[in-house]
Amino acid sequence: MDADSNPDLAFYPDPVLRKVAHPVQAFDQQLDEVVQGMLRRMYASQGVGLAAPQIGIGARILVLNETGDPERVDEELVLINPSVVERSGAETFAEEGCLSFPGIYAEVKRPENCIVEAQDRKGTAIRLELTGFQSRILQHEYDHLEGVLLVDRMSPADRLRHKAALEELKGAYRQRLAKAAAGSDKGQG
Ligand code: CO
Repeated sequence: MDADSNPDLAFYPDPVLRKVAHPVQAFDQQLDEVVQGMLRRMYASQGVGLAAPQIGIGARILVLNETGDPERVDEELVLINPSVVERSGAETFAEEGCLSFPGIYAEVKRPENCIVEAQDRKGTAIRLELTGFQSRILQHEYDHLEGVLLVDRMSPADRLRHKAALEELKGAYRQRLAKAAAGSDKGQG
């Protein structure tokens, strides 16, 4: 990956999205590059949050910015090894999308508030009390680190409503696999 290129997104049903991500051990330049790549990819894709497995990296790293605006650096959150230590407030429904499920939106029920403990990109411990949209994004992204996806959180009715779109994603994934296999055969020949 070039230092300033946008990493590719992993789309459903890529198995990398199903793995439980590993804790980050080293707070080094490599981590910083992954974080920078995640932020660039999130903004370029008009997202408000991204988890490392979504760029094919099985590490416990999340970035979010509820404004989605790259100019609003003050709203950026970078969380390493986050854990949601408390969830509170009423459970509310809101529509969620996911960069790994392009074009698919579904109502998801989550508690309104959460407290998250994490480290920043230097390894310093941080504790945040999140509410509203930020809390919702965090809980969605945290799910990614546990291998839990939008398709698991949506109602059976929504899963049925999105059946064709989900099948289309599976077909596109199979095609990419076949293309990659053909490409690597050629490379070895
Ligand atoms: Co997502």
